[in-house]
Amino acid sequence: MASINKPFSQSCENNKDVILKVLEQALKEHNKVLEIGSGTGQHAVYFGEHLSHLQWQTSDMVHNHNGIRTWLADCDASNILPPVEFTLGKSDWPKGEFDAVFTANTTHIMQPAEAQLMMEMIAKNLPEGGVFCQYGPFNIDGKYTSESNQRFDKHLESEGCGGIRSVEELVAWAKGLTLVDKVAMPANNFILIWRKIGQ
Ligand SMILES: C[S@@+](CC[C@H](N)C(=O)[O-])C[C@H]1O[C@@H](n2cnc3c(N)ncnc32)[C@H](O)[C@@H]1O
Repeated sequence: MASINKPFSQSCENNKDVILKVLEQALKEHNKVLEIGSGTGQHAVYFGEHLSHLQWQTSDMVHNHNGIRTWLADCDASNILPPVEFTLGKSDWPKGEFDAVFTANTTHIMQPAEAQLMMEMIAKNLPEGGVFCQYGPFNIDGKYTSESNQRFDKHLESEGCGGIRSVEELVAWAKGLTLVDKVAMPANNFILIWRKIGQ
């Protein structure tokens, strides 16, 4: 039974099944995932429970840690680890031998310099063969993929967020990673699948 104090995100409920289908394939040969910006912790619990071969390390800025812990407290899975602080622009890369990274709906929230740093740190710290799955709204060729994303970007700007990034911009920042797939998702989102492949 859900604890009444658990933070809740409706968008996590809406997108978790379609994301899971992609992660099942992308992460089937991986072992240890770092999730950046775990938010409420809902994704971590759902994906950790369904992908039990993975150790799922949650992370976020400290103010979200209690919420993530309440979701973990209601969950029996032992492969989902309590949050560590990881704030792009402030923190070092978390300790642990991560061969995969997952993040959802964070790239457009971060300031551009933080998003750039995220791409660079992942490229630097993933081992050869490592994979990065990045979910969210992205522009293609510098253009919005829908009018609703354009409106959303205006809203992000008014909230002081960094805004929707172009895939091409991310490619330029992620030196050392190869964008191997760009999976279209409902509601004008994508999952970008990046791999560290020997040069
Ligand atoms: C819109 S929420 C998404 C949360 C969750 N991943 C989801 O899909 O519901 C954005 C998340 O990005 C995190 N975030 C924003 N700026 C960050 C930064 N500089 N470093 C790490 N996380 C950041 C926030 O704390 C928040 O958890």
